[in-house]
Amino acid sequence: MRPDLRERITFANHNLVTDKVFSEVQLILCRNVLIYFNDELRQRALQIFSDSLIHKGFLCLGAAEPLAPRERQSKFQSFSAENRIYRRHTSLATMS
Ligand SMILES: C[S@@+](CC[C@H](N)C(=O)[O-])C[C@H]1O[C@@H](n2cnc3c(N)ncnc32)[C@H](O)[C@@H]1O
Repeated sequence: MRPDLRERITFANHNLVTDKVFSEVQLILCRNVLIYFNDELRQRALQIFSDSLIHKGFLCLGAAEPLAPRERQSKFQSFSAENRIYRRHTSLATMS
């Protein structure tokens, strides 16, 4: 990884099963992890992602992990469907 990029990243362990949200996250790369989760854990992880991302923050998933329409709903918009890239969507009604 380029040193100038690496210096701008905070590295930390995060267990999607037991840990809570990060705040003000701009980009989440979570590739080839959700495919190993059952639906309950997958929904938990997606809630963590949604709560952690800033409005219009990016969520990148693996090729075999597209969000179902019910999972997008008011939380995520598709940014690049073929690349499984989504953006946190906050409806105007819930923004303050
Ligand atoms: C198949 S690997 C994918 C690694 C990499 N993201 C990739 O696409 O090559 C699955 C990853 O899920 C991580 N993982 C497994 N359980 C996890 C959990 N509860 N919370 C966070 N990450 C987890 C593992 O540490 C592992 O790195």
